[in-house]
Amino acid sequence: MRGRDVICILDFKRSELERLFRIASTRFEGDELRGKVVALAFFEPSTRTRLSFETAVLRLGGGYIGFSSAEGTSIQKGESFSDTIRMLDAYADAIVVRHRIEGAAKLAAELAEAPVINAGDGSKRHPTQAMIDLYTVWREKGSVDGLTYGVLGDLRYGRAARSFILSLTLFNPKRVYLIAPKGLEPKQELLERLKLDYELTDLSVLPELDVLYVTRIQKERFPDPAEYERVKGSYKVDLKLLEDAKGGLMILHPLPRVDEIDPEVDRTEHAFYFKQAANGVPVRMALLQEVIG
Ligand code: NCD
Repeated sequence: MRGRDVICILDFKRSELERLFRIASTRFEGDELRGKVVALAFFEPSTRTRLSFETAVLRLGGGYIGFSSAEGTSIQKGESFSDTIRMLDAYADAIVVRHRIEGAAKLAAELAEAPVINAGDGSKRHPTQAMIDLYTVWREKGSVDGLTYGVLGDLRYGRAARSFILSLTLFNPKRVYLIAPKGLEPKQELLERLKLDYELTDLSVLPELDVLYVTRIQKERFPDPAEYERVKGSYKVDLKLLEDAKGGLMILHPLPRVDEIDPEVDRTEHAFYFKQAANGVPVRMALLQEVIG
């Protein structure tokens, strides 16, 4: 993966992802990025993605530069996205970009010599999150294949859910249930790309699931605030719902959560979302090591 841009999860082959998972699950020396600088260009809010990238760089002995919002940068003076990326390209060995506009990371990759890693672009792609999600299943269940998945929430505007669903096409899940409130169903564009056994349904399939992937409603991406008001609070995973779950049901969530998983669920055997978030560090370490180490 040396020097490669990481724009979309489907740019990867299953074998490459599995190699990444094996690296993520082994020990690192701690000097794999010695002398390297990673630029973190976050034009949109982030907690886990940015801080786990920072942690990953530091744990590999590298350094980072960057910003966590356009505020405080020359973008406020009117500098363009392209000029900003050109500068980061001159300073760093890799550029991690998060932006609210779809295609921003791809554009950055066209402008920069250094490899660009997409840390989320609009409601479209979030490849490193999908890597973490798959890694969590792979590690906990031994395989991504043969399982029944339910993806619950905002399947229209959620880039993490979209990337996860697409990433499953690289594997052989038994079945994928897409569970979205009315108005938040996946776009036709996504459904057309799903070459797997999927069904649009509701939470009545819960007893069948091995993995339930929950996402929040992406309030900030609604073109019309009234549309958000109509769907907010329309689903919730709580102890009552889980009475019907299989013993081994694993609940994932890219986080942040708002109200879609009751905090009481955190102490059940089903809650894997904090472990999933922690896996962000070794997976991003493995990726950085592969791309620029
Ligand atoms: C997600 C994102 O930014 O797309 N968060 C993350 O990176 N873990 C999910 C979200 O914001 O709902």
